[in-house]
Amino acid sequence: MLLIKRVHGRDINIRIEGTGEPLLFVHGFPFDHTMWKHQISCFAKTNQVFAPDLRGFGASTGGEGLGDVVAMEEFAADLSSLLGELSIHEPVHFCGLSMGGYIAWQFFRQHRSQLKSLIVCDTKASADSDEAKQARLETAAKVLAEGSGFLAVAMVEKLFSPRTLAVQPATVEEIQQTIRATPPASIAASLKGMAARPEMSEMLREIDVPTLVIVGEEDALTTPQEMQLIADTIPNARFVQIAGAGHMSPLEKPVEVNQAIGDFLSSLD
Ligand code: MLT
Repeated sequence: MLLIKRVHGRDINIRIEGTGEPLLFVHGFPFDHTMWKHQISCFAKTNQVFAPDLRGFGASTGGEGLGDVVAMEEFAADLSSLLGELSIHEPVHFCGLSMGGYIAWQFFRQHRSQLKSLIVCDTKASADSDEAKQARLETAAKVLAEGSGFLAVAMVEKLFSPRTLAVQPATVEEIQQTIRATPPASIAASLKGMAARPEMSEMLREIDVPTLVIVGEEDALTTPQEMQLIADTIPNARFVQIAGAGHMSPLEKPVEVNQAIGDFLSSLD
């Protein structure tokens, strides 16, 4: 079912399915909860699945009250409060992709008591270089001036493996459609929030919940090398590479990603 919950003065849209231990799926930038469609249908059989649209994305409101910058800490605080609004007092399995991973680090720092395990897909722990920050600010200005359409074209080659681009045109088009539909103000505020995100590489050593690290073998944005380092730094983390997938591994190779998540969750029982 789809629900709207009021969180910090905004309407947050969330899909909730199934029963069992709570499993929260947090989308990347600039997508919405539908990027997890294969995981939602799979894990609704074993878990209570929560897949929200972050503020300003999908059917969650942002608009006037969104703010110029949305920090990763603010997204994490929204999720913490959202779980409270839904009366979920049990710690959750938190699965985030890319920007959802940046948010996961902040959720661990600020809301540790609500966390049972972490699953981070295709993400980074490092902060942006000065060059990367500058590029984000330029993209934010361009989106505000020209609209979201160009980003759908600019991002697509970096999001998917060459094979996905060739054989899954419907998946590619779906993501492009999501990007085109995302309001420029939401894109700009998140870009600025990501540019300002803190360096987390050292903090990884403190992570004391079971952790699974997943990366597409052909991820050009958040590389397997960088994710291997994340897995090596987090105590006892598991590392799974997904052959044939790029940055959007859960959409590109759902069977393999679901298998990795399912094996990890079963190992915790
Ligand atoms: C994402 O998929 O969330 C983005 O690639 C994150 C980023 O731009 O760093």
